[in-house]
Amino acid sequence: MCGIVGYIGHRNAVSVLIQGLEHLEYRGYDSAGIACLNRSSHAIEVVKEKGKLAALKNLLAGRDLSAHAGLGHTRWATHGEPSRLNAHPHLDNSKRLAIIHNGIIENYAALKDELKAKGFRFYSQTDTEVAVNLIACYYSRSTGLVEAVLKAVKRMEGYFAFALISREEPDRLIAFKRSNPLVIGFGQQENFLASDVSALLPYTNRFLYLEDDEYAVLTARTVEVFDLKTRKPVKRRPVEIQWTIAEAQKGGYSHYMLKEIYEQPAVVEEIIKNQVKPGGRIEFERMSAGYRAKLRKIRRVYAVSCGTAYHAAIVGQYMLEKYARIPVEVAVSSEFRYEDPVLNSEDLVVVISQSGETADTLAALRIAKQKKALTLAIVNVVGSTLAREADFVIYTHAGPEIGVASTKAYVAQLATMISVTIFMARLRRKSPEAELRSLVSEFKKLPAACEKTLELAKSIDRCARKHSHRKNFLYIGRGYNYPTALEGALKLKEISYAHAHGYAAGELKHGPIALIDNEQPVICIAPHSKTYAKMVSNIQEIKARDGIVIAIGTAGDDALDDMADDFFAIPKMSEIFSPILAVIPLQLFAYKVSVLNGRDVDQPRNLAKSVTVE
Ligand code: AGP
Repeated sequence: MCGIVGYIGHRNAVSVLIQGLEHLEYRGYDSAGIACLNRSSHAIEVVKEKGKLAALKNLLAGRDLSAHAGLGHTRWATHGEPSRLNAHPHLDNSKRLAIIHNGIIENYAALKDELKAKGFRFYSQTDTEVAVNLIACYYSRSTGLVEAVLKAVKRMEGYFAFALISREEPDRLIAFKRSNPLVIGFGQQENFLASDVSALLPYTNRFLYLEDDEYAVLTARTVEVFDLKTRKPVKRRPVEIQWTIAEAQKGGYSHYMLKEIYEQPAVVEEIIKNQVKPGGRIEFERMSAGYRAKLRKIRRVYAVSCGTAYHAAIVGQYMLEKYARIPVEVAVSSEFRYEDPVLNSEDLVVVISQSGETADTLAALRIAKQKKALTLAIVNVVGSTLAREADFVIYTHAGPEIGVASTKAYVAQLATMISVTIFMARLRRKSPEAELRSLVSEFKKLPAACEKTLELAKSIDRCARKHSHRKNFLYIGRGYNYPTALEGALKLKEISYAHAHGYAAGELKHGPIALIDNEQPVICIAPHSKTYAKMVSNIQEIKARDGIVIAIGTAGDDALDDMADDFFAIPKMSEIFSPILAVIPLQLFAYKVSVLNGRDVDQPRNLAKSVTVE
């Protein structure tokens, strides 16, 4: 998620922009830049660089940039690798306009072709550069800046928030908001713009959040907000926000992990927007016909990853084998890389990774390539090493995940695996199209089902209070939710330091049942499925030994509710969606137990967000 800062007023704009970007660093980014209206030259000065703000500050050192208005941006790459060229702000060809942008303009390629035909030239791979030149295309003496923006916005498809300055209208900033956040800050003889309030709290605590399809014109003394459709001014009073900067960076949540758990419905929504096309077609951006043809010939899949991503690999195995009828093997990267796997060009090795930098998974990818297997990376960080070295990459677009314990990135991996499964099932013609269409229409209801599941938070908190003192937990599940049991256990152990173990429920009687007594909580993931009756038997075995049953089940399952000491209902959906819904209460449970034990939720001991060493 990119960071946006805009300023117009009596201060030196450069220092306001840099300080604002510093407060947005927590969002994660791979390049940064500023554009400002130089008072003396009346030109727009753009300074931008790949990497962290320190690199940008080095470029700014010694530059005399006295400016009263400007824009600042930290980029989280979605279109185009992290680079100085792709960094924002972007100028139009005539250097009259500069823009910063957050979001995705889905029809940018068509717009780019149209502009090229009109003689515009492009230097970056970004959709943002298309936007600023589209606005420039309409901008003329007879069509002022606001009018030009509105004409261009009408042509753009997707969801975006952007801010713009013009050297010909140096006394104002223009902003537009559709889906991605944009907030205005009110000062004395100065006004501000940002993607979140944390960038502006050092200067003001009076804010007005723009709503979808609203645009704003800011000068040093005035702020005007308009509705795109009616063009009428919007009369909404600013709000006062008394957060500290730290509170603001967490969006008011106590921890990044909690914020990221609550971002999951939006993350799934974003994936559906990116991967599910009109008519229910599944598409992955930039997949070539050649790669697609190779996928069709694949005879076996290896899914290789670590930790939480390994659990996503197991879920993917169940999905692909059921719907695409292709044999799938899963392996932890650290084993795969040393076991000298038997691979050839008829194998597809899928590496799954949030960071795209995990050393063992990277080694596994390189071995797969040496053995001539086709490779696919499912990765969150754009331009990461795994993304660059695999034959093809599908980005999960979960945005930066700050908490060390993976939550939204995991759910994004599962949602992406659903898309991959439907895509492969169609490619290999292994499932009736009617069944796949029905899955796609159900997929679109998943964000709302995730929202509904988050309503369990309060009852989960009560359950966590009852058990937060315990040091041993068992998690059991079957089928798609066997990996859910593994993931739930990993979440609890890594942030609360309790002993938590996940098992295939059928394994209970092969050993773990010896642990059951009246002190032993067992989290049983038992939504309606083809193995539901077997889960019920397991639960009865646990109860017969006085075990404590905490059940995750399908809404309306009164029988399970009666059996369990605590019952948490997830919305009724087809089995393939249940690992996403079932993991949410487990994330919330782990989070609450961790907080109650005074642990460092976001930075648990001994752990790193990305394990770039063996
Ligand atoms: C998950 O909560 C952990 N932080 C860890 O297991 C993580 O999933 C693992 O290190 C893999 O990281 P990656 O997804 O960035 O490759």
